[in-house]
Amino acid sequence: MSYLGSVETPQPWSPEGVQAIVAAHQSLEGPLIPILHALQNIYGCVPREAVSIVAHALNLSRAEVHGVVTFYHDFRDRPAGDRVVKICRAEACQAKGGEAAARVLLSVLGLPHDTAWGGTTTDGVVTVEPVYCLGLCAVAPAALIDGEPFGRFDGMRLCEAVGS
Ligand code: FES
Repeated sequence: MSYLGSVETPQPWSPEGVQAIVAAHQSLEGPLIPILHALQNIYGCVPREAVSIVAHALNLSRAEVHGVVTFYHDFRDRPAGDRVVKICRAEACQAKGGEAAARVLLSVLGLPHDTAWGGTTTDGVVTVEPVYCLGLCAVAPAALIDGEPFGRFDGMRLCEAVGS
């Protein structure tokens, strides 16, 4: 499970809802990250349209808020698929074939598999995301499939585990 927790049923976003979330966290010291976490927990993502509302409320630029959303890989601007596959792209996993295995899965799912790979399938079923070290280097290459550790895979084992 992501440290952000799972979102069972994301609610549709609304400007009023975003403003209420901002208001509930605005008095915290360093409110931006808690606000983004709350948005993602409720909406399943940080909607692009919410960025300007949050920026305005916190007297930040849209670029500053957008920069934080894109810096942390667990924040998304669209809800994730029903299944989330996080594949490690860090050194130990690359050395054990993680990148090649990832490309097999991405290719089977019809997702981009160039240098900036990842995304959600068009049917919204599977999201594949790169991560950089899961602390599972001993079983490299490593991934989290719906929050469960999975290691020592090749492309075929990864596809089977994801059900593709
Ligand atoms: S390098 Fe992949 S889990 Fe650490």
